[in-house]
Amino acid sequence: METLSPCSRLFSSSSSASPSSFNGDFVPNNNIHPNTFSAWSHRRHRVITTIRVSAATPESRAFQHDTNVPSNPTGIPNRRLEEIRAVADGVGIGFVDKTSESATPTSCRDPLPLLKVSSESLQYESGYLGAISDKTSDPHSDTNGNGGPTNVSYLTSILSSKVYEVAIESPLQYAPKISQRSGVRILLKREDLQPVFSFKLRGAYNMMAKLPKEQLEKGVICSSAGNHAQGVALAAERLKCNAVIVMPVTTPEIKWKSVERLGATVVLIGDSYDEAQTYAKRRSEEEGRIFIPPFDHPDVIIGQGTIGMEIVHQNPGPLHAVFVPVGGGGLIAGIAAYMKQVRPEVRIIGVEPADANAMALSLYRGQRVMLDQVGGFADGVAVKVVGEETFRLCRELVDGIVLVSRDAICASIKDMFEEKRSILEPAGALALAGANAYCKYYGLKDETVVAITSGANMNFERLRLVTQLADVGAKREAVLATFLQEEHGSFKNFCQLVGPINITEFKYRYDIGKDKALVLYSVGVHKAEELIAMKGRLESSGLRTLDLTDNDLAKDHLRHLMGGRSNLENELLYRFVFPERPGALMKFLDAFSPRWNISLFHYRAQGDTGANVLVGIQVPKEDEEEFIGQAKTLRYEYKDERKNKAYRLLMH
Ligand SMILES: Cc1ncc(COP(=O)(O)O)c(C=O)c1O
Repeated sequence: METLSPCSRLFSSSSSASPSSFNGDFVPNNNIHPNTFSAWSHRRHRVITTIRVSAATPESRAFQHDTNVPSNPTGIPNRRLEEIRAVADGVGIGFVDKTSESATPTSCRDPLPLLKVSSESLQYESGYLGAISDKTSDPHSDTNGNGGPTNVSYLTSILSSKVYEVAIESPLQYAPKISQRSGVRILLKREDLQPVFSFKLRGAYNMMAKLPKEQLEKGVICSSAGNHAQGVALAAERLKCNAVIVMPVTTPEIKWKSVERLGATVVLIGDSYDEAQTYAKRRSEEEGRIFIPPFDHPDVIIGQGTIGMEIVHQNPGPLHAVFVPVGGGGLIAGIAAYMKQVRPEVRIIGVEPADANAMALSLYRGQRVMLDQVGGFADGVAVKVVGEETFRLCRELVDGIVLVSRDAICASIKDMFEEKRSILEPAGALALAGANAYCKYYGLKDETVVAITSGANMNFERLRLVTQLADVGAKREAVLATFLQEEHGSFKNFCQLVGPINITEFKYRYDIGKDKALVLYSVGVHKAEELIAMKGRLESSGLRTLDLTDNDLAKDHLRHLMGGRSNLENELLYRFVFPERPGALMKFLDAFSPRWNISLFHYRAQGDTGANVLVGIQVPKEDEEEFIGQAKTLRYEYKDERKNKAYRLLMH
């Protein structure tokens, strides 16, 4: 390992993947590196060459099959095969040398800066199919104005991909318990069973295996703190090429060690993914190493698309939808590129966390946007900007995006554990959460759906939070606050009104200055009606009750701080995301104290991306502007929580 910066850690957690820096309202659209451009146009040649070579592979021989033969190795219905062949003939697959055509990637022709938006600007009910884009072209047409591969060349390249030199054909497994509960036949595409516990090796290997020998000899480089790093490292080991993996200094030891064990050189540099990426791109230029991007490259997309090919032949029967987790969009773009050609009736539905909805927002606005802040819980999909090519494909081919909460992801991790005794990482359980929410929202019955369980690289510390939130996410637990009269017998009366419902957590502290006491508690819920009835009993006895089940501030911090109400003057309440590195706390304190009194400080390690810290600070009104200026110069993400109803209720 090359350590370019000290790596003793303040807290322990992982880091997110956001492909660009973010300062100011607009940022330049520059997240594709010049090396990527040259590799891309070079690929353009190779895609065509590959198609020609593919005529000799067993899969592609299917193209020459008699259309009366009922099945073929691709899983493509023969009638559809015939259509594809006609399109392929029409565009001259395997016969026309297109290398002289200009292969200008969209980025060269798309100089517009990216609009910076907040994830909150597009929210809709969990399960609802939103962000349905205006289709820019016919998914079956084979024209592509941006110079990247055409739809048919994606299909044929997927058919001839070499990913099976490293990846397994992952099983498509029936999930009986979840299916019985939902009334829908749910199949799990088990990408968490891949050699590095995620699908990412498919794309990395597909791109690297196509590099010319002399390029491979110069080595490859990538920046990632997650699954892409392991995919590139494994691919490099198999291809016997030198790989440098650049990771932020905050990357947990378990992650960089597993990359190092695969023989790659690890460089730890910078606090954030952005800094690691800048370094990696500079070094790729200096040393002539090819930069392997995590999602935005046709060969990466093609590698991930092999999952679509497997689903088609593993489930030849009727299929309502495939649910796919979305980060930068490489996985869904690849699956859609294949499936919309061969099974166009199957819906391809993306799933994103509600606070990491870059693809939903981009599809909704018809252009790529940049999130100002991205939720880091599902770190595998914590991406601020989706890719250019991935966006182009998703706009054309994807049927919409379902948004889910952090709690719903936790509930799906628990479901998977109960179903298969496997622990998925949050991004790995995202599609299952989306499938559940969608089936429930639309009352789907007796259909078959597939959810991609995309990864199992779970940060162990995060399990604590997952177990805490899983029941809330499954609507099996509710977090409530009730006002009681501060008098003899009121607690007993309250317990009687709660009745048979199981109390799973209870916090109460006497507050001398108040005549009403507030209790914060959680209850186990079997049926939604039970909870409604209980709240009704409390309200009709004059006990005001608030449901805080969906309030993250209450669940993450305030439930642990109960009793800390102080009614302090001029108290500001902010949530900061500190980089988890030595000195971060001191830098923070230096910026604010000793002038302003810190009245509250709460941090709980949750294995999250960056340390999520709640800070109360007494700042006189006339200093508020100065405080905000200081907060900005720190360059830590922050949020004003003064208006949060849970804060006003429990702490103020
Ligand atoms: C486990 C997991 N699921 C889903 C994704 C999203 O993939 P993409 O960025 O191609 O959309 C990632 C990306 O790294 C991942 O690691």
